[in-house]
Amino acid sequence: MSLSLGIVLPTRNERDNLPTLIARIEDALGPEGWEVIVVDDDSPDGTADAARALARADGRIRVLQRFGRRGLASAAIEGMCATAAPFVAVMDADHQHDPALLAAMHDAVAAGTCDIAVASRFAPGGSAAGLPNERREKGSRLANRLARHITGVELTDPMSGYFLLRAETLRAAAPGLSGIGFKILLDLLATADPPLRVREFPLAFAERRAGESKLDTAVAFEFLVGLYDRSFGRVVPSRFALFGTVGALGVAVHMAVLVALYRLAGEGFALATVIATFAAMTFNFWLNNRLTYRDARLKGIAAVLRGWAGFCATCAVGALANVATATLLQGRGVYWVVAALAGIVIGSVWNYALSSRFVWGR
Ligand code: GDD
Ligand code: MN
Repeated sequence: MSLSLGIVLPTRNERDNLPTLIARIEDALGPEGWEVIVVDDDSPDGTADAARALARADGRIRVLQRFGRRGLASAAIEGMCATAAPFVAVMDADHQHDPALLAAMHDAVAAGTCDIAVASRFAPGGSAAGLPNERREKGSRLANRLARHITGVELTDPMSGYFLLRAETLRAAAPGLSGIGFKILLDLLATADPPLRVREFPLAFAERRAGESKLDTAVAFEFLVGLYDRSFGRVVPSRFALFGTVGALGVAVHMAVLVALYRLAGEGFALATVIATFAAMTFNFWLNNRLTYRDARLKGIAAVLRGWAGFCATCAVGALANVATATLLQGRGVYWVVAALAGIVIGSVWNYALSSRFVWGR
């Protein structure tokens, strides 16, 4: 029997799950016609070594170890491009996806009744019981709703990480895939032209066996940025939008400090504005470093301090313009709130232009 199905298992710390999962795949598909491609992102638990040990004894197993890179979606894409099998599947390596569905998914695509078979937790007959908690289940449903709304993809589970399609279909779509985060299926469905005919297979999403989930707030945040980019990204780039949002929050900090010092503590307006400006600047640096420039994030106390000093320095001109504008207007009898806001607008323009370039090098 010749090779028909390449099963990609993206792994990050899944050492103890691999042998049992491969045994379950064999139970489901029989001894021949398939291969497993483990795509490991240099897991600290030694998943890649363990996979190679399995592969030496079993010619149906192959290993792709990546260094200095992370990401479920890109691992899945590269794994699917690394097999000669005419059909490719991706599934989680932690036993949450039942290999028993593989045969029916394969046969449906092979028979041409659909272009892609998707295992769905939310299709009738499926279940999301294996999600770790209610918060995760709510989040998952919300992400699905958002994804459906924005991409127009009509699917009960566009976030599923378990699907099967022809390798050539994947290769045709591959150049347009972003490879960011967890949303590989969503990207595939939104990118493929002509659109893929989908068939869903109800999946009872099981509990993970060993190890823990890697879907954290950072992954969730990237997902939202990805959706934003798809809808408004061409009008206002997400980085600029984030900088603006952080800036708006900084305005709140600025005003809060100003109210506290000027209105409540009775300090002079100029001094209060100087302090408010510095408070907002520090807050903005911190949040921009975490969100806007998360891909170039400064880490470690020395780098952060240097970055903060650099941020303040590049903003110094802006801050000066801010203070000058605000005090000038306020001195001329302009209402203090309006004076402060005008100063902030002038200062922000400088902040974005200079800090992007000189603090984070973007
Ligand atoms: N190579 C690689 N690199 N693999 C990764 C990475 C990574 O950066 N992050 C996660 N994985 C692997 C895990 O080792 C696991 O085999 C699979 O991808 C799924 O990761 P989990 O960390 O177990 O995700 P989950 O169970 O919380 O998320 C499930 O639900 C999501 C939607 O709600 C999965 O089914 C996801 O595929 C799905 O998008
Ligand atoms: Mn999982």
